[in-house]
Amino acid sequence: MGFIKVLLPCILSISFFTFAHAATFDITNRCSYTVWAAASPGGGRRLNSSQSWQINVSSGTVGRIWGRTNCSFDGSGRGQCETGDCNGLLECQASSRPPNTLAEFALNQLNNLDLFDISLVDGFNIPIEFSPTTDVCRGVKCTGRINEECPDELRAPGGCNNPCTVFGTNEYCCTDGSGTCPPTEYSRFFRERCPNAYISPQDGQTSTFTCPASTNYRVVFCP
Ligand SMILES: *[C@@H]1O[C@H](CO)[C@@H](O)[C@H](O)[C@H]1NC(C)=O
Ligand SMILES: *[C@@H]1O[C@H](CO)[C@@H](O)[C@H](O)[C@H]1NC(C)=O
Ligand SMILES: *[C@@H]1O[C@H](CO)[C@@H](O)[C@H](O)[C@H]1NC(C)=O
Repeated sequence: MGFIKVLLPCILSISFFTFAHAATFDITNRCSYTVWAAASPGGGRRLNSSQSWQINVSSGTVGRIWGRTNCSFDGSGRGQCETGDCNGLLECQASSRPPNTLAEFALNQLNNLDLFDISLVDGFNIPIEFSPTTDVCRGVKCTGRINEECPDELRAPGGCNNPCTVFGTNEYCCTDGSGTCPPTEYSRFFRERCPNAYISPQDGQTSTFTCPASTNYRVVFCP
């Protein structure tokens, strides 16, 4: 989430002058269980095991994709999910309630690059892969045993919280702007299991990936 806050003002000014190429995201559920995929922008869709959903996202978009578990919705698309819930709507309009693993992206930014990451800033619920569908650039996976091995203090139904969500202190949230928060036992727990994920604001660039603008992507739940 960090790079998105920093870049948002630039993004807003640049996107007015950029032609609108769309990027295609193929979202697939390889989990043994049902996942209710969510995208902002984009909405949401139930994905039974092995089903896919395709969305097209316009150039300049800053967005996120995540999965929800154990949902139930009525015929009008209202209900709730155990993890990743977005105000009880099947078709998400805003962001979600932690814990949930996030695939974040900002398309066609400076130097015509897409920026993307897998963020655990809102905790973890489902293993995710976020990769280009071509091989000119690298993707990222977060598949460690985080739910199974989650410390008791961070455990939540269906997921594992980021310590910032639970404790709210600068030690874990690193919000004082010093940029020097040292690793904690919790950040090490997540880092060991998902070395390339964006875990806290001091991660900066090391967990942000880039691909040329106009790349298409796949997001896989339980890759
Ligand atoms: C997903 O599975 C449920 C339960 O088996 C079934 O009712 C539903 O039709 C399936 N959805 C799709 C889109 O195949
Ligand atoms: C996304 O864009 C591609 C390429 O233009 C098109 O073939 C595909 O049908 C679009 N998918 C959706 C879901 O709109
Ligand atoms: C959904 O909830 C049931 C019952 O509470 C639980 O056994 C199951 O593991 C949950 N499924 C997922 C995917 O979290």
